[in-house]
Amino acid sequence: MNNVPQTALKTGKNKKFYKYFKEYQWSNVLAMIKNNRLDPKICTNDFKQKLVVITGATSGIGYFTALKYASHGADLLCVNRNVQKSEALCREIEREFGVKCSYKIADLSSLKEIFRVAEELAAINTPIDVLIHNAGIYLTKKELTSDGLEKVFVVQYLSSFIINYLLKDKLKSQGNARIIMVNSEGHRFAAWGLRMDDLNWERGRYSGLKSYGSAKLAQLLSMIVFDEQFQNTGVTINAMHPGAVKTETGQENGPVYRWFKRNFIDKTLKSPEISAEALYYLGVSMEMEAVSGKFFNLTTVEEPAPPALDKEVACEVWERSLDLAGLRAQ
Ligand SMILES: NC(=O)c1ccc[n+]([C@@H]2O[C@H](COP(=O)([O-])OP(=O)(O)OC[C@H]3O[C@@H](n4cnc5c(N)ncnc54)[C@H](OP(=O)(O)O)[C@@H]3O)[C@@H](O)[C@H]2O)c1
Repeated sequence: MNNVPQTALKTGKNKKFYKYFKEYQWSNVLAMIKNNRLDPKICTNDFKQKLVVITGATSGIGYFTALKYASHGADLLCVNRNVQKSEALCREIEREFGVKCSYKIADLSSLKEIFRVAEELAAINTPIDVLIHNAGIYLTKKELTSDGLEKVFVVQYLSSFIINYLLKDKLKSQGNARIIMVNSEGHRFAAWGLRMDDLNWERGRYSGLKSYGSAKLAQLLSMIVFDEQFQNTGVTINAMHPGAVKTETGQENGPVYRWFKRNFIDKTLKSPEISAEALYYLGVSMEMEAVSGKFFNLTTVEEPAPPALDKEVACEVWERSLDLAGLRAQ
């Protein structure tokens, strides 16, 4: 995917390996383990006459988060890929909570559809108070999108990058908005950083954990640059780990994975209601008003892994994302 000589890449990668190796601290790992046991902080404020945009609200964390915001009076605009599920969701929310719920259909693995929905969101003439990037997938086998990009990278990361990028001006002009990216402790699987020379896993061996970790890491890196661009604008951007919770994630994978997940992994997981509680707190609580550029484990601020704090790579990811998305000319 680029023309950087192999020797330079090798040197660059080794340099980062030693840099990150030195930066890893046991205290951060212990903090993560401790934070994993904490409950989210609760926000009891209402959020009436506010608009919340959520991607992937038809299932799991997104679904419970939509219900949580609606139960406090917020109107919802969901970005989903499935019409029937979206209809059912919006009718349920309107019936139960008496708020407005609408949806836009977009397959967030397709650049064309990501652009279309981002442009539609940018054209809305009311403020978007909270924008939650939640849609995600976990694939044990590599898949390429119709644009020739690795699918997990696009759904989990590039879609949020493009939407944030195209909404920047609208959100800034509002003078007040919160972006929350549902990230993951899984970014730690990309322990030695992003393989910028091999984002499509053509040379390195693909695995579900590595592709997932890399996409989540890319999102955390993009947050560094977005956060800088949003300084003093009233727009905040944060990322969070939503807990280890029982959802439909991984259902696109084969029967062996699904059996293992159902019979072993799912039994250890919590309810996605805790994720929704945390996403509500991060989106609404006054304590979060000026907080930006942070990674939260539910509602506890936490230091991400060293590669997620690398500003030099953050700028590289930014540039590469503009190229991959074809945003150079904009
Ligand atoms: N569950 C956990 O323990 C956990 C832990 C850490 C992070 N997360 C993150 O939490 C987020 C939500 O995941 P979940 O666990 O709630 O999984 P989920 O139940 O599978 O929900 C995923 C949502 O994303 C949507 N989606 C998937 N691919 C899409 C695409 N190409 N275009 C548009 N929408 C798409 C799904 O739509 P359909 O309903 O049509 O399938 C669904 O609404 C993800 O970003 C995930 O990485 C989850």
